[in-house]
Amino acid sequence: MSGSAKRSVTITLDGTNKSSQLPLVEGTIGPAVADIRRIYGDLGIFTYDPGYGATAACESKITYIDGDAGVLLYRGYPIEQLAEHSTFLEVAYLLMNGDLPKPAELRGFEMGVLRHTMLHEQIRQFYNGFRRDAHPMAVMCGVVGALSAFYHDSLDINNPEHRRISAFRLIAKMPTIAAWAHKYNSGQPFMYPRNDLGYAENFLHMFNAVPTEPYKVNPILAKAMDLIMILHADHEQNASTSTVRLSGSTGANPFACIAAGIASLWGPAHGGANEAVLKMLAEIGHVRNIPEFLSEVKDKGSHTKLMGFGHRVYKNYDPRAKIIQKACHDVLGELGIKDDPLLDLAMELEKIALNDKYFVDRKLYPNVDFYSGIILKAMGFPTSMFTALFAVSRTVGWISQWSEMIEDPEQRIGRPRQVYTGPTQRDYVPPGRR
Ligand code: SDX
Repeated sequence: MSGSAKRSVTITLDGTNKSSQLPLVEGTIGPAVADIRRIYGDLGIFTYDPGYGATAACESKITYIDGDAGVLLYRGYPIEQLAEHSTFLEVAYLLMNGDLPKPAELRGFEMGVLRHTMLHEQIRQFYNGFRRDAHPMAVMCGVVGALSAFYHDSLDINNPEHRRISAFRLIAKMPTIAAWAHKYNSGQPFMYPRNDLGYAENFLHMFNAVPTEPYKVNPILAKAMDLIMILHADHEQNASTSTVRLSGSTGANPFACIAAGIASLWGPAHGGANEAVLKMLAEIGHVRNIPEFLSEVKDKGSHTKLMGFGHRVYKNYDPRAKIIQKACHDVLGELGIKDDPLLDLAMELEKIALNDKYFVDRKLYPNVDFYSGIILKAMGFPTSMFTALFAVSRTVGWISQWSEMIEDPEQRIGRPRQVYTGPTQRDYVPPGRR
């Protein structure tokens, strides 16, 4: 680990004279971590932390979150500043390379991405294997995994040039894959990427255009799309990123690893929450039904959650949710949508929840997914596309984290241990004597 260890923490095993002195490693910001690697050798015990609530699984220089203060930094830059001044591809460069690009570096990076936006023609055929109503995330898992069968020329994970070209291919092709998943659902012809358009613009073109008439991307929507992509680009060791790292730790190729990340993102407790929020709002239907819905949420037996609320790390407002909430108002205003009943319902739900003892006691605040679905719906996306859009944006974070892991000299295969509570050794009993 590159952090320094000036202090230590000593653990003593009760009833023995055994102890283990664990180095306390300081990062640049955030809590110090106890390096427990020697604990098994010293004391013969494992540590137990289901859900990794108190475990740092890796060292990283990419993203920092202060969950109590509601702070999110990409490579040290506050998300609010990047949202206001940057672009998605500039943020992608920042996440992947560590610093903001000089103008010529950015141009080179943009060219690198734009040159890889097309899919191999045989991938077109791949879509036909899906049912017409296939969920876009099912298509994304399959098609992204299949990319590894098309790019044998870049699968050596120990070759930096192969890693670089795979990263470009993934970032460039994700919008095409996602837009085509939608076109396949709707039965319209696939639209090829246009490299004269910006990243978000090109996605909107492939998503909305048809070959029979000219289509001009609405700049308001392109700007909003770019902002949404910036906000979703990375979020340190969340479940899908950890999945990508764990898959990558085995030496699996990056296309397979990102496909694993997409699968992990799909769940409603993670990236699938944006779709689930809209379903929840539709079910609630009206402000007058909020109290009844929240009673159900508070009933432990119901398994109903207030989707888009709560976060493992944020015990304060998710800074991304604040930015998206404002963007929702801006986009609706610019599109001339005076009243959006969904936004009104969401804001009332948020207000009531934030004043409810259950949510206050548990420090449950809106997360990034609470408002993202509302803005995406206003932009004309079907709910089934919401998580796919999250996956397009998060690919940059996944691939940055994957590359960082491969370059980490301390990287080993991810292999957690367990506390075994099954039967002790016993002898096989023949069927007739059971
Ligand atoms: C994302 O990790 C990341 O960084 C993810 C993400 C990213 O960018 O990668 O930020 C994106 O995944 C956002 C989260 C989207 N998910 C949801 O909106 C689904 C609803 N929220 C949750 O189910 C939940 O809050 C999680 C999964 C987000 C976090 O789960 P934790 O950290 O395991 O929290 P917990 O289950 O320990 O909750 C603590 C308490 C529990 O009550 P008690 O048992 O103490 O009585 O709070 C309750 C929970 O039941 N609780 C909720 C709730 N979230 C937590 N109760 C009602 N509704 C909720 N949404």
